[in-house]
Amino acid sequence: MPYPYQIKSYDQYKADYKKSIEDPAGFWGEIAENFTWRKKWDEVLNWNFTEPKVEWFKGGKLNITENCLDRHLEKHGDMPAMIWEPNDPEEHHRIITYKKLYEKVCQFSHVLKNNGVKKGDRVCIYMGMIPELAIAVLACARVGAIHSVVFGGFSAQSIADRLYDAQAEYIVTCDGAFRGAKDIPLKSVIDDALIGNRTVKKVIVCTRTRTPVSMIKGRDLWWEDEIKKVETMGLHDFPAEEMDAEDPLFILYTSGSTGKPKGVVHTCGGYMVYTNYTFVNVFQYQPGDIHFCTADIGWITGHSYIVYGPLSAGATTLLFEGVPTFPDASRFWDIVDKFKVNILYTAPTAIRSLMGYGLGPLQGKHLNSLKVLGTVGEPINEEAWHWYSEHVGKNNCPVVDTWWQTETGGTLISNMAGITPAVPSWATLPMPGLEMVLVDEKGQEIIQEGEETISGNLCIKGPWPGILRTTYGDHERCRTNYFATYPGMYFTGDGALKDKNGFFRITGRVDDVLNVSGHRIGTAELENAINMHSGVVESAVVGYPHDIKGQGIYAFVIYQGSHGQDTHGTAEMIRKDLNQTITRIIGAIAKPDKIQFVSGLPKTRSGKIMRRILRKIAEGDLDNVGDISTLLDPTVVEEIKRGKL
Ligand code: WTA
Repeated sequence: MPYPYQIKSYDQYKADYKKSIEDPAGFWGEIAENFTWRKKWDEVLNWNFTEPKVEWFKGGKLNITENCLDRHLEKHGDMPAMIWEPNDPEEHHRIITYKKLYEKVCQFSHVLKNNGVKKGDRVCIYMGMIPELAIAVLACARVGAIHSVVFGGFSAQSIADRLYDAQAEYIVTCDGAFRGAKDIPLKSVIDDALIGNRTVKKVIVCTRTRTPVSMIKGRDLWWEDEIKKVETMGLHDFPAEEMDAEDPLFILYTSGSTGKPKGVVHTCGGYMVYTNYTFVNVFQYQPGDIHFCTADIGWITGHSYIVYGPLSAGATTLLFEGVPTFPDASRFWDIVDKFKVNILYTAPTAIRSLMGYGLGPLQGKHLNSLKVLGTVGEPINEEAWHWYSEHVGKNNCPVVDTWWQTETGGTLISNMAGITPAVPSWATLPMPGLEMVLVDEKGQEIIQEGEETISGNLCIKGPWPGILRTTYGDHERCRTNYFATYPGMYFTGDGALKDKNGFFRITGRVDDVLNVSGHRIGTAELENAINMHSGVVESAVVGYPHDIKGQGIYAFVIYQGSHGQDTHGTAEMIRKDLNQTITRIIGAIAKPDKIQFVSGLPKTRSGKIMRRILRKIAEGDLDNVGDISTLLDPTVVEEIKRGKL
């Protein structure tokens, strides 16, 4: 068997789980033996959750790209590593073998080196979903630079903040990106982000849309020209930089309940072992299978299950540039049939949105290559789960509901396809190595008695190899965010149920983080953006249930003159202005679905906004806003209720 650690039965899962909890170091040490190390680790695990400090395979030397590329060359060099499907179905797709991908990564590694990139340098990558994005990511890893991929939907201001936080000196971008009917002018957004920037030395621009771009002498370089130089010199190999297992591999920014997004840091060894292990086990990957993860590489799902997990397992990974509804709502099904996709991994939002088109787009599609379906990013409702299983999987494919986070590196709770039981809308069982507990508000572990189902805040008692190590440049923030709420435990920020079988059902965030279409948005971050709009006095943002997006964004805004009307126009025009400000500061993904102008917000006497009340109003549960007697001015509640959108 190619993956000796692939779990093959429910009994084996139970045995492996037990072993992993009793002896984590023994368990993960054995799995790590299946990778290419230049030097073996000194110690499998060293940790405490007080500082916090977590080290896996410390002293072990490796380069993750030798595991993703070099080690597959001899036996599988001619196998497709990556299939790329462009946005426009009329344009030709690309198939890149392991040999070819190796060569391309080596060439771009030379380009990075020629331009001064060294081990430990931060490289910001802002590109559309083209193979060169994955190549840039892997080339950074090969030279030992720390990549920070920023999703193509973020604004110039968001990029500027991330460049500053990471003190990034290099950027890799494209002229533009195609997404559905849109062209996104990536380089122009980068140019805006660079106004006033003092750290960035070089910007490498890959051609995709050939939209006009400004190219500044000495700073901006064309990808193709740089590659040509390397080709002329006949360079096809690049000796990978030797990394310690605990050297940082990448930073990925994600929203939390306070302040600006934080840079989650993952390291080389543990992240590699964990993404590979979960990829092979959750999806039950078999050599030759075509794996199609529809996420963008700009999110953790793309990092772990388009790039590192599949490639370290020698798999074939499919990269799709476009969107599920372009040119029409059959696009996913056409791609599945065109490439005989075996594993399809997508988000509940995409499923719900495609459900809205009815069964027409599925007509005449075979989908008979599919073996496994997966979901990620948000809770999946039963209706969407059944639709996916029945109409896409033809009742013939296990559906894996994978729960995890940017901070966890890979899946923590999920059924394993066809191996452990699936229950609609339940993520079910923890991966081996994970001791998950539910705690009450005071941090007391909730103990299950008999067959009862318990409910609480989801925490984890010890480390797994894919856990974040720090938040870039601010370790204290990492501690307070994840390890201080419930001392001695990692707090996920999610609430969950646990039933008599030990299965978990994730109920959603319990902190001030929204999950809109599977994208994390911090309410504090969004309120800061809204408050920057001139005329806004104060604002409060809450989530409410949304049929397609899972959660919608509802903003309550106190605007000068309170009703959102001033000399600049009607409330509707002011709403558009506000959206423009949010798009500039964060990006279009953070635009509220509803903006209600109010003259006051429900506050306690100490000035704290009572979001619980606003949440009830946004949900439309007007009769159950609860006790309002402690409010400074209870009359605002009636006014807000009357004005509900
Ligand atoms: C939510 C995405 C329910 C959860 C990989 C988590 C889920 C946040 C699921 C992390 C799931 C993710 N069921 N909820 N299967 N998967 N979530 O960092 O609230 O973008 O905390 O990572 O998404 O979002 P992130």
